[in-house]
Amino acid sequence: MAETRFSECLIYWYSGTGNSFLVAERIAETIAADGLSVSMVQIKKNLIPIVPENALIGLVFPIAASGTYPFIWDFFKRLPPADNKIFMADTLGGFSGGIKGPLGRCLDAKGYQRIGAIEIVMPENFPPGRKSSGRQAAKRIEPGLEKAEDFAKNLLHGETSWKDIPVVSELLGAVCRFKSPWQLMRRIFAFGIVAEKCSRCGLCVKLCPVNNIESTGDGVPVFKNGCQICMRCIAYCPERAILSKYGQGLDYRAVSAEKLLIDWRKI
Ligand SMILES: Cc1cc2nc3c(=O)[nH]c(=O)nc-3n(C[C@H](O)[C@H](O)[C@H](O)COP(=O)(O)O)c2cc1C
Repeated sequence: MAETRFSECLIYWYSGTGNSFLVAERIAETIAADGLSVSMVQIKKNLIPIVPENALIGLVFPIAASGTYPFIWDFFKRLPPADNKIFMADTLGGFSGGIKGPLGRCLDAKGYQRIGAIEIVMPENFPPGRKSSGRQAAKRIEPGLEKAEDFAKNLLHGETSWKDIPVVSELLGAVCRFKSPWQLMRRIFAFGIVAEKCSRCGLCVKLCPVNNIESTGDGVPVFKNGCQICMRCIAYCPERAILSKYGQGLDYRAVSAEKLLIDWRKI
């Protein structure tokens, strides 16, 4: 039985290729098994956060450029002032360092009580063209999900913490909050749709969390210039028609596209 009772648990999550979705889902299922009602809400550009009184709030997302994607940071900044207990879990390929500190201080300033933070190594989904994600999946996903489950159990019993190395975390975290690294990555990889391969199914338009891919009616969708390199469109295109400018795709996804299309779900 949990040490602290909450009215409910609300987990805000984002996942480009499914790793963070799996972690969010495992945490949600573990907390729900303890008798708490849990909702999973997908973070997208301009989502307005709701923080019900006495709810346990969770934030689950991928690491990118040592921190996270700009639209996820914007979401964190939009969280309303509140004194709810809150936790975070990120997934990463190997090294981050730049999120627990800056996010922790953003939440402190709003009045939240930080009760736990965890970083879970999952298969790498970057850069495009990488070949080893499938092999990593076999080795990393199950241990990662076990870690998520233990974390959720410990959370409910008040046995987690949120530690970081302040100055180092601040410096690393600053990288992803500047525009230039994203502009540079956009220039280097320059994702685009190969018109001859595209079946015009529109899945990429639906999956893009920042509305950067625009439908052109019956035509091939077009990329605008706000891509945040989350790898969703490239990983899930059924025709493998989305490639970097060097012709590289991504042969990795941890869950089906259908799971990533659900914005709100009760566990
Ligand atoms: C643009 C980009 C930048 C990334 N930067 C990092 C990084 O700095 N450190 C790291 O360990 N992993 C990094 N990764 C790997 C992802 O964090 C990791 O594969 C994550 O589990 C993906 O989660 P998702 O499937 O939920 O999107 C990066 C991935 C992308 C697409």
